[in-house]
Amino acid sequence: MKITQEEIAAEYANAVNGVQAGVVGQTGSAKFAGYSAAEVELVPEGVAQTSFGCGNPVAFSEVLPGQTVLDLGCGAGMDLILAARKVGATGKVIGVDMTPEMLTLARQNIARSGLTNVEVRQGKIEALPIESGSVDWVISNCVINLSPDKQTVFNEIARVLKTGGQMLVSDIVADNLPLWVRRSGLLTVACAGGAISEQAYLSGLSQAGFTHHEVIAREYYDAEQMASVALGVLPAFMANRKLTKQLFARLAKPITTKLWSARIYARKS
Ligand SMILES: C[S@@+](CC[C@H](N)C(=O)[O-])C[C@H]1O[C@@H](n2cnc3c(N)ncnc32)[C@H](O)[C@@H]1O
Repeated sequence: MKITQEEIAAEYANAVNGVQAGVVGQTGSAKFAGYSAAEVELVPEGVAQTSFGCGNPVAFSEVLPGQTVLDLGCGAGMDLILAARKVGATGKVIGVDMTPEMLTLARQNIARSGLTNVEVRQGKIEALPIESGSVDWVISNCVINLSPDKQTVFNEIARVLKTGGQMLVSDIVADNLPLWVRRSGLLTVACAGGAISEQAYLSGLSQAGFTHHEVIAREYYDAEQMASVALGVLPAFMANRKLTKQLFARLAKPITTKLWSARIYARKS
């Protein structure tokens, strides 16, 4: 991977600051991530615009009242808020993210929601600041592809889950991705360059000790949608290179069949 985690964090800080300042025309990826209008209504105004997910893990998890949910790479907190509404006052939601700007915004969004059952912690998903065997659900939305050490992330998920605990992750996966995408640090930030195959994902989960794991859904994006995501995540890069959405869409066309969003489930026995 041609980019450091510090550089990834800096790009996400830029992206989210740009959205907040209204500098870029980011509309968030909420509309590609599959949130319903009712779910967007459940979060304070503006939160969906700072969502950079590629799925809707809370909607497809069977999170119950009273449970503890951990969101890996929680960003500005869209999924934290949706999960907090599901677990209710007797449950708890914890978000972990490495980017301070995301955490600041997440804390503001949680406060604006009036929720008292959510907290966020700064940390890396490769070394979770979470007690072993303490959570019922691990969710994550478009984050694990960004990790340079995915096996350690899978091991950490297995460590923090209770026995019987479950994982529901939406993430970008890839098949035969061209080298020019893999080698691009900025396309790594845009959740493409670091994506692994479904098979590698499932085999990493097996190695972490999960005996039950499966891909339960897939969603493909067209070139226009890929360009929208790039515009949202990499506003400065796109502007500096004079890369319009149309031009990026043309570049992205050959990879539309090689990258998709997968919904991946695992249970710890
Ligand atoms: C594509 S955004 C997704 C954010 C959020 N899940 C959402 O759906 O809006 C990726 C997030 O993961 C965080 N992140 C990336 N790599 C990380 C790592 N190794 N440890 C912790 N956070 C990480 C970034 O700071 C960023 O907030």
